[in-house]
Amino acid sequence: MQHQKTYHQEKMSINGREITVEGPASHKMLTSCTFDEGLDAFRVPEEQYEALLEISELEEGRVIIAREGTHIVGYVTYHYPDPMERWSDGNLPYLLELGAVEITLAHRSGGIGKKLIQLSMEDSFVENYIIITTEYYWHWDLKNTGLDVYEYKDIMIRLMASAGFEVYQTNDPEISAHPANTLMARVGKKITRDQMMEFDKIRFKNRFFF
Ligand SMILES: CC(C)(COP(=O)(O)OP(=O)(O)OC[C@H]1O[C@@H](n2cnc3c(N)ncnc32)[C@H](O)[C@@H]1OP(=O)(O)O)[C@@H](O)C(=O)NCCC(=O)NCCS
Repeated sequence: MQHQKTYHQEKMSINGREITVEGPASHKMLTSCTFDEGLDAFRVPEEQYEALLEISELEEGRVIIAREGTHIVGYVTYHYPDPMERWSDGNLPYLLELGAVEITLAHRSGGIGKKLIQLSMEDSFVENYIIITTEYYWHWDLKNTGLDVYEYKDIMIRLMASAGFEVYQTNDPEISAHPANTLMARVGKKITRDQMMEFDKIRFKNRFFF
């Protein structure tokens, strides 16, 4: 599959501060920016910045950033699922995963998260993909928001739904481990019935019908 990436950019103003949301960002674009110290939800910021650089160079990889000037304050990443997880079964070339989305604490709740995900879908090539997102409550910032897992789950569903993601059922043990964990997917308009059936098989792996 030839992965095509078309760059999009949008500016937004939050409390008088201008934020640029853009991507897919190239490696060069990312190296010309600094990375906010508060972007530590998944890894220490230095390592997360390195991960973004690596993803930007993957054929299928996409990194969409939110920056204030040349300072990155948020990002969302897309790439093939981890080979250790069921989502990579069959190495379906059209199955991408939203790997991580994060906004630094001081810039949250201003609409940047929503804008990042929505801008990601402006590139018409994404219609060739099924994009999944596995939401595990242990990645969520319950401490700073003061929300409980079900309130946070509701935010994540609304956030993803704003860009066309829907909740899908699965028998994946990690998703099933807690009722707040959720699988969501955005099925591109060019996805065929056969491609969808392959996805269904992965969602319900090892299920026997009697
Ligand atoms: C989840 C996250 C990316 C959302 O980004 P954000 O810029 O704060 O989100 P937005 O401002 O675009 O808001 C998206 C929706 O969530 C709601 N929301 C955001 N923060 C909220 C809060 N603290 N309490 C209640 N609702 C909230 C918004 O009202 C909005 O819903 P609406 O459009 O229906 O009104 C951000 O909070 C974050 O980085 N969290 C830590 C990392 C994380 O949990 N990542 C997700 C797991 S991969």
